[in-house]
Amino acid sequence: MDLALTGDCVLVVGGAKGIGYAIAQQFANQGADVVLADIDPNVNDSATVIDADTTGNVRGFILDATDYAAVKSLASEIGGEASNLNHIVYAAGVGSNKFGFPFWEMEPSDWPFVLEVNLMGAVNVAHAFASHMQQCGSGSILFIASIAAQMGSQTDPPYSAAKAAIVNFMQVVAKDFARYNVRANAISPGMIQTTLNKSVWSAWNQRQTEDNKREYEDWADEKISAICPLGRWQTPDDIGKMAVFLASQAAKNVTGQTVNVDGGIIMHS
Ligand SMILES: NC(=O)c1ccc[n+]([C@@H]2O[C@H](COP(=O)([O-])OP(=O)(O)OC[C@H]3O[C@@H](n4cnc5c(N)ncnc54)[C@H](O)[C@@H]3O)[C@@H](O)[C@H]2O)c1
Repeated sequence: MDLALTGDCVLVVGGAKGIGYAIAQQFANQGADVVLADIDPNVNDSATVIDADTTGNVRGFILDATDYAAVKSLASEIGGEASNLNHIVYAAGVGSNKFGFPFWEMEPSDWPFVLEVNLMGAVNVAHAFASHMQQCGSGSILFIASIAAQMGSQTDPPYSAAKAAIVNFMQVVAKDFARYNVRANAISPGMIQTTLNKSVWSAWNQRQTEDNKREYEDWADEKISAICPLGRWQTPDDIGKMAVFLASQAAKNVTGQTVNVDGGIIMHS
């Protein structure tokens, strides 16, 4: 399927590694220009690697998405009337690095940082680029949520709550941008082997007795067989492929939706 993204440009916040990086690669594969923004200084190396493999233009910016002034400054630099930027992906995310079951094992003070990155970073980006997106004529915004948003996950309550909030905010964004032909959607990944996923295992493992501790691979295999009907990991590329589809005209009537790319972990009956 020709997704016709040549000439388009995507900003991927949280694009230095993991799922955001794979999304950026898929946009580049489809001929789009790519802007990576990430708090990780390696973002420039990531941009260089993608750039080497594509005819499009690829740039990297160091950005803390929780710093609204910095996000607005990025919007001034890469947005504006002459810019071809017409897609935004918010893929930045963190966990609390604590195992939150039961919730009182955590402190209320564990919440703000998780909400800041997962929710307020996305809100900052939506606000800073709102005026630019209204001028695009056609475009899309994608939020990377999580299946945790739909299940009140006990693993990391502030993460789960932040992701539920982002799905809700995405629907507001979809409604408000619809008259500008800008669509907003969310993808909820299932289980993907990234730094973030390893931090979930690490938080769990630290709370186990010596007998119950597991290597990451064993923990992950057990978890996948227990909860995933398809019985396999999802991959960053799975999310990247769905992301470019949602940005493309093939999905021109898809807005306000959350797509679970999770091997069937979540099924609403
Ligand atoms: N890995 C999974 O199993 C899984 C499952 C569901 C949802 N997700 C979501 O997918 C997204 C990507 O996560 P990942 O698994 O690739 O993790 P990751 O840790 O590999 O990538 C997250 C990226 O976000 C960046 N980031 C963190 N704080 C930032 C900030 N303040 N400003 C800018 N960038 C920041 C990190 O530097 C990193 O490059 C996240 O939103 C995560 O919640 C992941």
